Amino acid sequence: MTEIHKGLAGVVADYTAISKVNPETNSLLYRGYPVHELAENCSFEEVAYLLWKGELPTAEELAQFKQECWNGRELDQKTIDVVMNMPVDCHPMDVLRGAIAFLGTYDTEHFTPDSDHIRRIARQLLSKIPTIVALDIRRRRGEGYVSPRKDLGFTENFLWMVFGDGPDSPLNRPGDVECFEKSMILYAEHSFNASTFTARVITSSMSDTWSAIVGAIGALKGPLHGGANEAVMHNMLAIGDPDKAEQWCKDKLARKELVMGFGHRVYKKGDSRVPTMEAAFKKLAAEHSDESTDTWVKMYDIMAETMYENTSIKIRPNLDFPAGPAYYIMGFDIPFFTPLFVMARITGWTAHIIEQFENNSLIRPLSSYNGPAERHLKA
Ligand code: COA
Repeated sequence: MTEIHKGLAGVVADYTAISKVNPETNSLLYRGYPVHELAENCSFEEVAYLLWKGELPTAEELAQFKQECWNGRELDQKTIDVVMNMPVDCHPMDVLRGAIAFLGTYDTEHFTPDSDHIRRIARQLLSKIPTIVALDIRRRRGEGYVSPRKDLGFTENFLWMVFGDGPDSPLNRPGDVECFEKSMILYAEHSFNASTFTARVITSSMSDTWSAIVGAIGALKGPLHGGANEAVMHNMLAIGDPDKAEQWCKDKLARKELVMGFGHRVYKKGDSRVPTMEAAFKKLAAEHSDESTDTWVKMYDIMAETMYENTSIKIRPNLDFPAGPAYYIMGFDIPFFTPLFVMARITGWTAHIIEQFENNSLIRPLSSYNGPAERHLKA
């Protein structure tokens, strides 16, 4: 009898030197460093550099890296037109997928010639994806393209492109900047998750990096993966009142329905990224402090406790649970939560594409046939 590993659960598909998820100790290491230490002490650009190069940058290396990223932020008119001409009611992940597919058509190398080529595309994507996301947010509000700024870091520049620098902009709220930057670091990398593995599968056929990223975006869009941060906020809004949250969770569990933002394929005793993001979310909510932010914090705590107390396996929140309401408080529209995840995860995806390319073997598992027995057409 063939042993089937449904969903490849428990299968170790390859080595990776990029990150280590340890479900026993609830820890996540990027190139050896605990992610919570990176989130407390580093900028997102430093973490991107670490994931790609294996070491944190010196001050000089960081300055040069930032310069390279700044130079790639601007979109050309054709790409702006591609984004502007997409339907305003399609999902923002579809816009991102389409815009990146379009950018790929500029590449005269149809297949990856060497890993430096992947590195150049990675830098380009890290720089341009926020500009595409910001443009998509703005056009849906009837607003136009805002050029990126070279005097701002990754997070500040993105907030500038989306919200401007008026008195109400998150750009002028240090707590918002800090919380967003932390979310980017926590979302950056997570070993062989569904979207990263998709990128590796596409790379393993010796296809190109643009195709691998477009495929990864498709995988991340799903509500069982990146789309969960959107679903979390939709659910919180549907519940509306913290006093209804406990019963809402119990009803979901009784109907054997999933509660988004809970559970994890690898972590069974708690997602290592949650304590950092939860603290950032609660700090953000306290700084904004009004009736609605209090509602999300109360609801967060009640839902987390109810899920833990009412499931035999003590299901705990994953990163999407605190990230969803945090992005909402900052003022992002819910369908953009997953594109925000892409802005961060592009670093992990491309690090894995390089790793796969440099030590490649076509990824092609076996299947066990359970269809009809051999039969024949009548002569
Ligand atoms: N809500 C309710 N029940 C859940 C649950 C959730 N979020 N996550 C897991 N469970 C239940 C499963 O249905 C299963 O029940 P069963 O034994 O009665 O069939 C049990 O808990 C064990 O689940 P498990 O097999 O350990 O989960 P998995 O590895 O198959 O799935 C996820 C992992 C992430 C796909 C799953 O937890 C999920 O769908 N979560 C919601 C989506 C989400 O937040 N995704 C973001 C992940 S970072």
